[in-house]
Amino acid sequence: MKHLLSAGDLTRDEAVLILDTAGQMAATQAREIKKLPTLRGRTVVNLFFEDSTRTRISFETAAKRLSADVINFSAKGSSVSKGESLKDTALTLQAMGADAVVIRHQASGAPQTLAASGWTHGAVVNAGDGTHQHPTQALLDAYTLRRHLVGAGGTRDTTGRDLDGLHVAIVGDVLHSRVARSNVQLLHTLGAQVTLVAPPTLVPVGVEAWPCDVSYRLDDVIADGKPDAVMMLRVQRERMSSAGGGFFPSPLEYTRGYGLDARRLEALPEHAIVLHPGPMNRGLEISADAADSPRAVIVEQVANGVAVRMAVLYLLLAGGPTTPAATPQPTS
Ligand code: CP
Repeated sequence: MKHLLSAGDLTRDEAVLILDTAGQMAATQAREIKKLPTLRGRTVVNLFFEDSTRTRISFETAAKRLSADVINFSAKGSSVSKGESLKDTALTLQAMGADAVVIRHQASGAPQTLAASGWTHGAVVNAGDGTHQHPTQALLDAYTLRRHLVGAGGTRDTTGRDLDGLHVAIVGDVLHSRVARSNVQLLHTLGAQVTLVAPPTLVPVGVEAWPCDVSYRLDDVIADGKPDAVMMLRVQRERMSSAGGGFFPSPLEYTRGYGLDARRLEALPEHAIVLHPGPMNRGLEISADAADSPRAVIVEQVANGVAVRMAVLYLLLAGGPTTPAATPQPTS
């Protein structure tokens, strides 16, 4: 694996390797070994053309915990506002020596362009591009599902390595969601059954070709599908207004039809968990009751994101093991 551009590029073995390696990274953190020497002397550039809290900070934290040097670039306040292109920005950062470029961009396909361009010699990691892909979000979501639902004591008492047989409902603004696209691909690769639930206006054209079911009725999916997990998506009002469209259905109709509230939470199977990639619109796609309930693992998703991004950077930059057992032991 030279780059991580799309969840759809990952084989089942590659995805499982990343999740297993993330588990080992998390174990070092649990033992309060905050820093591993693995990427000493390497430079990771965080190249963010679009706003982010969780992804940018967790990539920075992950790189630092692997002892890499980190350069944070935010388009706001940079020469991008004077019209500098992605190419010239990338060439400038490459001149400073980037071993990996973690890129978030509002244009779908920007990370693929960067990886194919030769403007950087480093590994390219997609931290979210337009409405296209957010592969590390899908990986941290799969990691979170696995920790709660799979293996000894989970609802799927299997080897604990993949998500065979789990049913995950992904609910809301699928049309604008790179998180939904990446999750459908990765969860399918790992053996889960996915149902997308959205109003017809927020379902993408061509969804029939995706490896998932589609429903327009959340209450039916909860009652009949009995999902093991519900992943609520953020309603992306900023992408609706930039596309010239309004918010349809109205916020009130949306919340009635697709919001997760205390009543729907109560109707879920007892073991089911609630995920949300953040940032949340409380009161729109998720009520405060649901967001703060013990079944919500939203804050844990953020913590898991650090371990998963440590694993991704380690596997890309340190050459990576062929088996998880080859992961280096930490020095405290
Ligand atoms: N989940 C996610 O990508 O959050 P940020 O936009 O805060 O990075």
